[in-house]
Amino acid sequence: MKVDELIEKAFEAREASYSPYSKYKVGAALLTKGGKIYKGCNIENASYTPTNCAERTAFFKAVSEGEREFEAIAIVGGYDGSPEDYAYPCGVCRQVMMEFCDPKSFHVITAVSRDKYIDKTLEEMLPYGFGPSSL
Ligand code: THU
Repeated sequence: MKVDELIEKAFEAREASYSPYSKYKVGAALLTKGGKIYKGCNIENASYTPTNCAERTAFFKAVSEGEREFEAIAIVGGYDGSPEDYAYPCGVCRQVMMEFCDPKSFHVITAVSRDKYIDKTLEEMLPYGFGPSSL
């Protein structure tokens, strides 16, 4: 996996962010085990609660195209301009990752630039997670 390329795709995805309310723009790039990349952005709503995070947009695009096996996700987020801080996935997005990814090997990468990033496993991001193997 080329982490810098995945981060670049997350920056591309962020360009499409629809975030007129928070103005906080998030982009995500989800890498499948087959090597495909699905991009997602946050999509807000005047009624607020229907808002969808960038990570879930990427997952739902991929899963709805039949993808089920994932290797990594790169996330970039922040207000206008270049992100200054790392954008970590919210709890709901971590739970969606838990549904489709192996917590010990799936990489969650949050970046501020192509070469400045944090790379954690899903298990580190969501310890003691509840997933399909719990049932
Ligand atoms: N957001 C994401 O896209 N991903 C996250 O994991 C955290 C939050 C979005 C939702 C909303 O549009 C904006 O960031 C502010 O919460």
